Amino acid sequence: MTLSERLTEALNEQIGHEMGASMQYIAIATYFDGQTLPELARFFYRQADEERDHAMRFVQFLLDVDAPVRIPEIPAPKNEFDSAEEAVGLSLEWEKTVTQQIYDLVELAEGDANLIAVRFLDWFVNEQLEEVSTMSDLLSLVRRAGEAGLLHVEEYLAREGMPTDAAD
Ligand code: FEO
Repeated sequence: MTLSERLTEALNEQIGHEMGASMQYIAIATYFDGQTLPELARFFYRQADEERDHAMRFVQFLLDVDAPVRIPEIPAPKNEFDSAEEAVGLSLEWEKTVTQQIYDLVELAEGDANLIAVRFLDWFVNEQLEEVSTMSDLLSLVRRAGEAGLLHVEEYLAREGMPTDAAD
């Protein structure tokens, strides 16, 4: 199975986007750590691990199809935040952007009639639905609690874990 140069390039770029997300979530986790909000910090450290796993899925796929792995340059994440809402809002925007990147990859793979790549990307299509939904729920929680009420979010996360079931 060979990949077109365009698809190889785009899949390698996605390694950078996923690693960029991982670094961004570490930066956000440290922001919450600094605010003594350990559950929010834990949530983002865990998200950072997930993003690294996503990057490694792309690495493994490229290896599996004998395509070159070329880890791209990764821009520095944003490190300063004025509020929890800003930090979580950035995360939601990031997930929406990644969703579009995955859709673009699917389009490329379909254009190449590369069915193995389309199937590989299927997992990410579903994952992005979950990630956007989770981040959107978390943003709703943070907005509802307000900056002064973030301990309610902490309690919620300690009790419920990921806010995927939170009502909007
Ligand atoms: Fe790997 Fe959250 O996108």
